Amino acid sequence: MKGISLISLGIAVIFATSITSCNNQKSEDKMEPTKGITKAAFGNADGKEVFLYTLTNAKGTQVKITTYGGIVTSWVSADKNDKKSNILLGFDSLGGYLAKPPYFGALIGRYGNRIAKGTFKIDTSVYTLATNNSPNHLHGGNKGFDKVVWESATENDSLPSLLLSYFSRDGEEGYPGNLKVDVQYTLTDDDELKIEYNATTDKATVINLTNHCYFNLTGDVSNTILDHELEIDADNYTPVDSTLIPTGKITPVKGTPFDFTKATKIGLRIDSVEGGYDHNFVLNKKDSTLKKVATLSEAKSGRKLEVFTMEPGLQFYSGNFLDGTIKTSDGKAINLHTGLCLETQHFPDSPNQPAFPSTLLLPGQKYHTVSVYKLSVSK
Ligand code: BGC
Repeated sequence: MKGISLISLGIAVIFATSITSCNNQKSEDKMEPTKGITKAAFGNADGKEVFLYTLTNAKGTQVKITTYGGIVTSWVSADKNDKKSNILLGFDSLGGYLAKPPYFGALIGRYGNRIAKGTFKIDTSVYTLATNNSPNHLHGGNKGFDKVVWESATENDSLPSLLLSYFSRDGEEGYPGNLKVDVQYTLTDDDELKIEYNATTDKATVINLTNHCYFNLTGDVSNTILDHELEIDADNYTPVDSTLIPTGKITPVKGTPFDFTKATKIGLRIDSVEGGYDHNFVLNKKDSTLKKVATLSEAKSGRKLEVFTMEPGLQFYSGNFLDGTIKTSDGKAINLHTGLCLETQHFPDSPNQPAFPSTLLLPGQKYHTVSVYKLSVSK
């Protein structure tokens, strides 16, 4: 956290910039964006002002992040023909998010993915959580970290960087312990979006933070992601029961539709996976250092997205519950498989699965994890 200075929410920018409107994509495209970070009003939630930050790097790539849910609302970059478009599902106003879309771009916590039947034990204490994805608990409950307003600060450094902080009180959504969470987003000049998560607690708790960006590398939501190629460095995955809770087995992907050890089109075998991909991959990496774990690419745009993480797992979710009822800000239907998530994480339901890597956080310990999404284009 060195170099971070918390500034009051009223103070605007740290870098000079020529961008004046954060909501008007068309007029921005015409302007030459200036490297830095800007801040704009983005409405109100929970009686608090919400802001939208725009991070711009030296290449002119722009990532927008709102303090509501720590949501990455857009990531605009050039394709192989130098045409700029947004590679994320999202909205250009707060209203879209207040309508509770399925976690578009959001920070997920206190526990990413499911906890079976919304209950877990630490020592002899039993904790009960919302079963908001009946019969299970999903993504932190009724009002997870994706639906709260985060405090924000910007970093006085050479790269645009946004620090978001949230204090989750003891008992919030049923979880024990006052949890102080910091998430820092940084956009590098190599088109890397780095997400650094830090947390501490004053009582034993469980934690599994992630980000829920839906990518569509075509930059056009009228295309599905079925032609995207995906490679995941995982020889095993965790099969699930009918309620998407891991059975506890660690199963080899070899000879199954879950084998992404070589780049494979997502659409090739998706029909043989009931409901589509929504599974945790057990990454081959053997320690908790930052390693490359997945590559997503799309031929028409020439875009490639590499995923690096310190986490042991990756949830590949192929947008199976998108059904066209949600529309983009310009009215396009967000249909089945028009976005996919690559959520770096500990395994789902770890608090109830002693054989999985632990998600327990104790007082005095520091939760620290980093994930990076790196975009590039081949011409
Ligand atoms: C989960 C899906 C869930 C989705 C919500 C994913 O992380 O794995 O099961 O439906 O989030 O958008």
